[in-house]
Amino acid sequence: MNKERKLIVAGNWKMNKTVAEALDLVRGLKIELANIKEVDVVVCPPYTALSEVSKEVLDSNLKLGAQNMSENGVGAYTGEIAATMLKEFSVRYVILGHSERRQYQKESSELISKKALAVHAASLKPIVCVGETLAERESGRMQEVLQSQVQGSLAGLTKEQMCETIVAYEPVWAIGTGKTASTAQAQEAHAFIRGLLVGMFDDSVARRVRIQYGGSVKAANARELLGQPDVDGALVGGAALEVRSFADIIKNSI
Ligand code: 13P
Repeated sequence: MNKERKLIVAGNWKMNKTVAEALDLVRGLKIELANIKEVDVVVCPPYTALSEVSKEVLDSNLKLGAQNMSENGVGAYTGEIAATMLKEFSVRYVILGHSERRQYQKESSELISKKALAVHAASLKPIVCVGETLAERESGRMQEVLQSQVQGSLAGLTKEQMCETIVAYEPVWAIGTGKTASTAQAQEAHAFIRGLLVGMFDDSVARRVRIQYGGSVKAANARELLGQPDVDGALVGGAALEVRSFADIIKNSI
């Protein structure tokens, strides 16, 4: 696939996998994806498996991501994880503001922007998630919601930091539901987000930012979705939990 930006496909394992299961999965992926150079492939295990998985990815083309990070440095923040702790395990990417965290942990775009700044301060790359719910889409508020989330969550980033930021468009109604956005819906939302980035930063920054699509991505729909001009990769949940299904998404996107 000839794309303007290098594709980036990340597996968000969410709250799944013991250490032993995580090792099985990453070892399988290493074998299946050993020759992949065209796509940046990222695996995001739960914190408890980062240490062991990091040893496995060292000598591979897989990169490691975390699913969240504190906006604070080390200190008295019970239950939180700081950037320095992630860097110890060679983590390169951090998913921020996933809709599940926005919903269950009540994370606001303002908090996510603080986390994004902390991620950059540690020279890591944030994957900042945005997306509307079904009710918001059906009431014609999709653009308003995306604008508020994009502008709020990316507030305060420099142009240089924005170029090193990945945005993930994940319509909430497509997450874990088996309902995928149509290629036209995905392209429309991605183009809209890129337009917002032109306004916040400039045209050249917006053209460099990679925007992933997330929501029921599987091998069967990856090629069509990732073939859209403004879709630069995928953030995969359920289908990232098995070697075969995740590897096939990546192979089908090349
Ligand atoms: P599913 O691929 O399971 O729909 O999850 C998408 C997602 O939330 C990835 O972050």
